Amino acid sequence: MNAIAVTEEMVEQPALLTRSEAAYVTETPTGLLFSENTPQAVWESLTTRLIQKAERIHWALADALIFGERKYGETYANAVKLTGMKAETLMNIASVGRKIETSRRREDVEFWDHREVAALPPKVADALLDDHVQQGWTRHELRDKARQKKTELAVEAARAMPLPHPSRIPPNIRVEVADVAARIPLTDQSVHLIVTSPPYGVGLDDYQDGGDVLAADWPSFMLDWLVEALRVTVDTGRLALNVPLDTSKGGYRPTYAHAVQMAEAAGWEYRSTILWIDDQLGKSTARGSMDSAGAPHVVAGAECVALFSKGEWKRTSDRESDLAHDEWVEWANGIWRFPGEGRAFGGHPAPFPYELPRRLIKYLSFPGDVILDPFSGSGTTALAAHRLARDFVGFDRSPEYVKLTLRRVVEAQ
Ligand SMILES: C[S@@+](CC[C@H](N)C(=O)[O-])C[C@H]1O[C@@H](n2cnc3c(N)ncnc32)[C@H](O)[C@@H]1O
Repeated sequence: MNAIAVTEEMVEQPALLTRSEAAYVTETPTGLLFSENTPQAVWESLTTRLIQKAERIHWALADALIFGERKYGETYANAVKLTGMKAETLMNIASVGRKIETSRRREDVEFWDHREVAALPPKVADALLDDHVQQGWTRHELRDKARQKKTELAVEAARAMPLPHPSRIPPNIRVEVADVAARIPLTDQSVHLIVTSPPYGVGLDDYQDGGDVLAADWPSFMLDWLVEALRVTVDTGRLALNVPLDTSKGGYRPTYAHAVQMAEAAGWEYRSTILWIDDQLGKSTARGSMDSAGAPHVVAGAECVALFSKGEWKRTSDRESDLAHDEWVEWANGIWRFPGEGRAFGGHPAPFPYELPRRLIKYLSFPGDVILDPFSGSGTTALAAHRLARDFVGFDRSPEYVKLTLRRVVEAQ
């Protein structure tokens, strides 16, 4: 389509104010100037009308974009040129309009609240909007409920999926159900590298089949599996342990410091720590007491990967390393920067971003090595190990997550 021609008619804006309002309020191209003697009734009726207009404008803009896209194509690009608005905002607006057709749009619910439920199946979304109105939820509460529903639906879908046929599971992949704090079902000295992220002891109940451990039980839980992990690792084998710097749920705890303490107590030799910066993590808006030293709240947008070895750090192998020179140079700087995983595979609430196990496996092991993830979850480590021609063995206490890991590896082939 050709660029939309901007005519004078399009540029000229209709007035926002009625004649009686204009006696008190002046409209400028970038806002409204209120005279101090504006009566409350005038202010009220104008503000109410503006709110309603803003709502209607969003839906109208959505429909205009959807029509333009279907009929003429390149709508967003042209609309951006016209308005100077961000393409992302326009795409968001159009996407809500596309997912929620006219008959389902509600006057008693704000446009951006519709967006929170837009990705859900219509019946589920409509029921949530009913509850939203009846219970008087905030947008934040609605978002949480919508996320919860999305996870439930993903888990249901994952449960309904069959286990992949054994013949389709690659021979270098073994994944089983186990409680690794009780025992890791492997023989002594059979693993070269462990890449893992345990539950953080925040009482997370989003996990299937049992959930997270409680904060008070976390140190002894960590010690139990770390002792087992050491037993199954070869001499000079390694552990890359991903935990947050600290956690606030279940009490304020220096999670990283405790994890390192427990690993050392289990007999692991501490080597160093990689700081993984996920810029999204730092975008939290919870800052504690506003503009005051009363109770400020600090959140570091970073997680740690503590590196340990069983005995000596130096390893040898018959196989040649597959680490490229550039990777060796770049990754030696222990500040790694990449985004976290936004998707919840099969409803798993805390998957690794693929880049994390990929780097750790390449950096710390040789092709043909055995990689273990005792908390396999959605199977990100399994996938990276498989793609990097390592053997993988993984455990999770949830049969659903074991199935998820196997499906992920099979589907990626
Ligand atoms: C942080 S998640 C791991 C996510 C994983 N790195 C991924 O990429 O999906 C922790 C996992 O540990 C599992 N888990 C918790 N306690 C366990 C236990 N005692 N034994 C084995 N798995 C356990 C949970 O079911 C959960 O899937």
